[in-house]
Amino acid sequence: MLAMRAVDIIRKKRDGQALDQAEIEAFVQGAVTGSWPEYQLAALLMAVFFRGMSVQETAALTLAMVRSGVRLDLSELPGIKVDKHSTGGVGDKTSLILAPLVASCGVVVPMMSGRGLGHTGGTLDKLESIPGFRVDLSLDEFRAALRDLGCALIGQTAEIAPADKVLYALRDVTATVESIPLITASILSKKIAEGINGLVLDVKCGRGAFMKTLPEARRLAESLTSIGAAAGLRTRAVLTRMDAPLGQAVGNSLEVIESIETLKGEGSADLTFLALLLSEAMLLMAGAVEAAAVGPRARQALSSGQALEKFRAIIERQGGDPRVIDDYDRLPVAAGRYLVRAPRPGYVTRLDAESVGRASMLLGAGRATVTDRIDPGVGMLIHCRVGDQVAEGEPLLELVHREGADLGPALRVLESACAISDVPPVPEPLVIDTLG
Ligand code: URA
Repeated sequence: MLAMRAVDIIRKKRDGQALDQAEIEAFVQGAVTGSWPEYQLAALLMAVFFRGMSVQETAALTLAMVRSGVRLDLSELPGIKVDKHSTGGVGDKTSLILAPLVASCGVVVPMMSGRGLGHTGGTLDKLESIPGFRVDLSLDEFRAALRDLGCALIGQTAEIAPADKVLYALRDVTATVESIPLITASILSKKIAEGINGLVLDVKCGRGAFMKTLPEARRLAESLTSIGAAAGLRTRAVLTRMDAPLGQAVGNSLEVIESIETLKGEGSADLTFLALLLSEAMLLMAGAVEAAAVGPRARQALSSGQALEKFRAIIERQGGDPRVIDDYDRLPVAAGRYLVRAPRPGYVTRLDAESVGRASMLLGAGRATVTDRIDPGVGMLIHCRVGDQVAEGEPLLELVHREGADLGPALRVLESACAISDVPPVPEPLVIDTLG
C-alpha cells in the first residue's frame, strides 16, 4: 500500500472534506515522530482552523493524541476516578480545594494540571509556592500516591499525550489556538491519558476568560462533553462567569492561603460556592454519594476539617512543608503593599478580571511567555465585590509587591479595572448553565 502523503491530507481538509481515522492517525504520528515537517503540520492545523472538524473527526483526533503516549491504567484503584478541568480564569484556585475535598469523601482524584500563562494562573505554580512541594512526580510515584491517599496533583509528564506538546507549541505561533476541535482534542487527550473515567469541566465565560462570549463558551462546552462521551468518558460541564476574579486573592502564595482558609470554612462566598458545586458534580459522577446527600456530604467534608486534613497529607506526600496549613508565614509573601482606593462613593459595578490578572502578571505573579520565571510571593488582594457600596477612599485593591518594584505598569493596567456608579448593578449569577 502506498504511504499516505501529508500534502494529500492537507488538501483534503483545505477543500472542506472530512478526514478518516487513518489520515488523522498519520498526522498525529507525523507530529510525534517528526516525519511530518513543521510546515505541513502547521498547514493542516490552519486548514482545521478554517474548515473545522466533525464530532467523529474530533473524537478520532483526541484518541490518536491519547495513543501518541502512555494511557494510565488505574483500574486497580477502586471506583470511578474523576478529575476537574477549568478553561482558565483569574483567582481560580478551586482545584486546591476540591481535589482534597472529593478525595476525603473516598473518591480517587488523579489530577494533572497546567501552569499559568498571560493573565490566568495555573494550579502547578500555586502548589509550587509551598516550600518543597513537587509537582514533577513520576507516573509510578503518582500511582502510589493515588493508591495511598486517593489524590495527587502533578504536571503533565512527558509520556502523557506527547503529540499535544508538539501541536500546541505550533498552534501558539501560527494563530491556530482558538479552534474548538483543536482545543477539545488538546484538553481531552491529556485527561483521558491520565486514566480517569469522569471529568467535570468548568468552562469560563467573560472578560477574564479564554472564551469571551456565551455562544463561544457554550460551543466549547458542548464539544468537550460530546467528544468526552464519544471517547467513553463521563463528562459534565458547568458554564461559569469570569468577568470578575474568583475569591479575594490573585497570585500564587496568596491563593494558597485563600485555599487553606476556604478548607477551614473561612473562604469567600463565591469561591466556596463554586468549589462545593464542582465537588458535588464530581461526587455524583463517581456515584460515591446519593444525589440527595451529595450537598450535605461535601459541606460536611469542609466543616469537619476532613478536606483540610487531606490537603495536609497531600502536601506532605509531595514533599511540601505541611506546616503552611497553620503558619502562613512559611509561605513566601512579599512585604510591599499599595492600596488602590475608591475615587468616589457609590456601588462597584465593574471589577475587571483580565485587568487584575494582567496587573498581577506585571508584578511578577504570572508569565508573559512560557519561559518567564514567576515570583510566588506577589499578586493582589481584592477588597471589594461587584455590587458592594463603597465610601470615597475605601480600599478596592491591594497590590502585594517586592519593595522597590516599579508599580507603574501594573497601576496603568488597573486604571479602568474598577467602575463605581450611583446605581447598583443588576446581580449576575456565577453559574450560567450546566451541560452533560
Ligand atoms: N488548554 C489546553 O490544554 N489546550 C488548548 O488547546 C487550549 C487550552
